[in-house]
Amino acid sequence: MKSPFKIDIITLFPDMFKGPFDMSMLWKAQDKGLATIKLWDMREFGLGSRRTVDDTPYGGGDGMVLKPEPVVAAIEAAKAENPGAPVIIMTPGGHQYHQAMAQEYAQAPGLILVAGHYEGFDERIMAYADGQLSIGDYVLTGGELPAMVVADSVVRLIPGVLGGELSAHDESFSDGLLEYPHYTRPAEFRGVPVPQVLQNGHHAEISKWRHEKSLEKTRQYRPDLLQP
Ligand code: ADE
Repeated sequence: MKSPFKIDIITLFPDMFKGPFDMSMLWKAQDKGLATIKLWDMREFGLGSRRTVDDTPYGGGDGMVLKPEPVVAAIEAAKAENPGAPVIIMTPGGHQYHQAMAQEYAQAPGLILVAGHYEGFDERIMAYADGQLSIGDYVLTGGELPAMVVADSVVRLIPGVLGGELSAHDESFSDGLLEYPHYTRPAEFRGVPVPQVLQNGHHAEISKWRHEKSLEKTRQYRPDLLQP
């Protein structure tokens, strides 16, 4: 049997991950032995008896900065247990995360995610990472939610995690477009019928309709995806 896909997450708040990772798909993936997720408490790598992880910024300014020693020590400890896994730092200043990256990470030997807090990371930490990721153009209080977003989007792509193996192929972004609309019973809801083409069951026509609807939706909500 294939060994599980291993995700290490370095954080000051491991308890934040309890709910999301102990439920639904992420729990099922771990339960089935398809993924393992290990949480590393950055505080355990802190300096001195107070386990210090942050300090004031050189040059002045608001907030605290994560110190290099504890973060790099945590990264090295995780790397030793997850060889070959890319180390990704969650930060609003990173590359914008997207579905193609999720697909790429799902093919990697594993994944190490670093969630920061306070004003940010000492820049020298970046040399110990393979990439920096932002999940969107907004600033959160820490990298924990972004790390959960990345872990979730990668784990669901691991073969065997989703029920129907095809369901990850047909979805939004997998072909550069938003996904077509879905319908289920009843055939009419409050006067709104399910499009006739879907009820007729003619596969070629359904495919054509779905592609047209995908384009329509993408044009309306994400015209940026259609730019050459
Ligand atoms: N940390 C704080 N905000 C973030 C964001 N948008 N993406 C990744 N990490 C973050």
